[in-house]
Amino acid sequence: MSTPAPSKKFKNPRANFNFQGRTCSISGVGSYVPERIITNADLEKMVDTSDEWIFSRTGIRSRRVAASDQYTSDLATNAALKAMKMAGVKAEQIDLIIVATITPDMPFPSTACLVQQKIGAYRAAAFDIEAACSGFIFALEIGQQFIMSRTYNTVLVIGAEKLSSIVNWTDRNTCVLFGDGAGAAILQNRPDSHGLLTACMGSDGQKADLLSMPGGGSRCPASAESVSAGLHFLRMDGKETFKNAVQAMNTAAQESLRRCEIDITQIKCIIPHQANRRIIDAVAERLGAKQEQLFVNLDKYGNTSAASVAIALDEAVATKRIQRGDLILLVVFGAGLTWGAAVIEW
Ligand code: UT7
Repeated sequence: MSTPAPSKKFKNPRANFNFQGRTCSISGVGSYVPERIITNADLEKMVDTSDEWIFSRTGIRSRRVAASDQYTSDLATNAALKAMKMAGVKAEQIDLIIVATITPDMPFPSTACLVQQKIGAYRAAAFDIEAACSGFIFALEIGQQFIMSRTYNTVLVIGAEKLSSIVNWTDRNTCVLFGDGAGAAILQNRPDSHGLLTACMGSDGQKADLLSMPGGGSRCPASAESVSAGLHFLRMDGKETFKNAVQAMNTAAQESLRRCEIDITQIKCIIPHQANRRIIDAVAERLGAKQEQLFVNLDKYGNTSAASVAIALDEAVATKRIQRGDLILLVVFGAGLTWGAAVIEW
């Protein structure tokens, strides 16, 4: 009598659909942060702040800032090349490039097209998406849809930001929070692995004003007046954003766990959006998660928006916090408002 196959301890929500054994696995990850480090002590010389205030209110110690001739597409390209190397994927194999960013090199063409040119992936289609700090999960979900529908076999997903270009370095409320960087993942149909099990996304445009950059679009094109009014800088209602972040991240995480019919104890590593240590701890408490399940690197990089969970995922893999077969939870929140969560079997 043959031994029955061991039953999985979670449900694959994709199994409800006829994907004929198709999976969306993450076969490579990579990240890049610029060399220049700005510490809290450096910021004390620039604005009326202190290391004590910044660290106790946010958990941030330092952040990376790109050089003046280093653009979002450069950060993205560096991360992409590392992910391609890990996956063993050549540029000509890539079918699609998606870049999630709120700091594109320019309004158009897309940063994804600029990355395409830099890595030589000339067969690929390329476009950007904008879901602020939630962008990487939104991009993962879009990429996965193309893989599962058999439209494409190899998708390069990148979260990349040069937030230093839209931060007002004289505003202590915001300049202490953000940093530059990029993270990338290669998505492929690999029948030997489950990969991305589910990703949920949510948005609430009614709260668009909480976190925005008002200038530079069709509503308020660049002009001498818009520049002097500071409309090309990021602005945020920190307290309201904080409250919404905790609630939305908790809801998104719970929904993704429910879809996989698992509870939080089965998650090996939780990778939350790295905006504020107090947000991460509040979400963990609501989820009933233990501190040792959390992966946190915002002390080093601050909030890198769309790059945040992508960089953290790469570091968690590189430091062996994530091993093959582990269940991982990614959970994000950002301007829009937008939020999302994803469960991955590594
Ligand atoms: O990635 C997208 C999502 N983004 C987030 O999730 C960020 C969410 N928000 C936050 O992380 C927090 O709200 C902040 C870190 C931005 C602010 O923390 P807070 O505990 O909400 O502080 P607050 O804004 O209420 O400010 C408290 C005080 C104020 O002084 P008064 O008015 O009480 O005298 C601020 O002016 O702290 C002052 N303050 C600072 N003091 C020293 C604000 N920024 C600074 C600073 N250094 N850098």
